[in-house]
Amino acid sequence: MSDAVSPFVLVLFFLFSFSSATDHIVGQNRGWNPNINYTLWANNHTFYVNDEISFRYQKNMYNVYEVNRTGYDNCTIDGAYGNWSSGKDFITFTEARWYYFICGNYGCQSGMKVAVHVLPVPGPAKATDVGKVKSSGGWRAMAVWRVVLASMAVSVGWIWVGLGGI
Ligand SMILES: *[C@@H]1O[C@H](CO)[C@@H](O)[C@H](O)[C@H]1NC(C)=O
Ligand SMILES: *[C@@H]1O[C@H](CO)[C@@H](O)[C@H](O)[C@H]1NC(C)=O
Ligand SMILES: *[C@@H]1O[C@H](CO)[C@@H](O)[C@H](O)[C@H]1NC(C)=O
Ligand SMILES: *[C@@H]1O[C@H](CO)[C@@H](O)[C@H](O)[C@H]1NC(C)=O
Ligand SMILES: *[C@@H]1O[C@H](CO)[C@@H](O)[C@H](O)[C@H]1NC(C)=O
Repeated sequence: MSDAVSPFVLVLFFLFSFSSATDHIVGQNRGWNPNINYTLWANNHTFYVNDEISFRYQKNMYNVYEVNRTGYDNCTIDGAYGNWSSGKDFITFTEARWYYFICGNYGCQSGMKVAVHVLPVPGPAKATDVGKVKSSGGWRAMAVWRVVLASMAVSVGWIWVGLGGI
């Protein structure tokens, strides 16, 4: 029976590594703080559905609200879609659309606002996309391979178990 374990460990490994999405840390090592131009930060990233964004800041000092375009432009939280305040907040993008996040207090007036355009998950790499995948989305191509390898490993696992069971 122990012989059958290794393919399943393999499967778990591949599935686990596949599930790790890109985490976009807002502001990188400067985090979520006043006087940072988050437009520059966002312009330097490509966001896809299932990616996550994380806000790191001093708890009880700042917070995060997801608002609409009006809220982003005017630093208002009326009709906010959500709010976070743990100091280390992870938010997963579930839809391809614009997301607007602001600090719910005075921080917004000091630049604590970020607009993020989330794109649909790219399909399987086309020949014309290869350059792009290499430069920015290499892990995505890897992810596709992991799925392929994982399904192969599952098949191997079943054969293994099948043989062992005979
Ligand atoms: C942030 O940078 C963008 C792009 O260069 C610029 O258009 C914008 O005015 C800047 N925002 C602030 C608050 O300086
Ligand atoms: C943009 O990304 C590059 C590479 O990750 C980094 O070196 C650079 O500092 C970033 N610039 C900004 C404005 O975040
Ligand atoms: C947002 O602010 C602009 C001016 O900064 C103002 O004209 C507009 O009415 C405000 N919108 C809302 C919904 O408060
Ligand atoms: C944003 O939400 C506020 C409050 O619900 C609303 O008055 C405003 O019209 C909304 N703005 C947009 C662009 O949807
Ligand atoms: C913050 O979110 C909670 C639910 O997570 C909600 O009950 C509360 O009303 C929100 N606060 C504001 C000011 O939007």
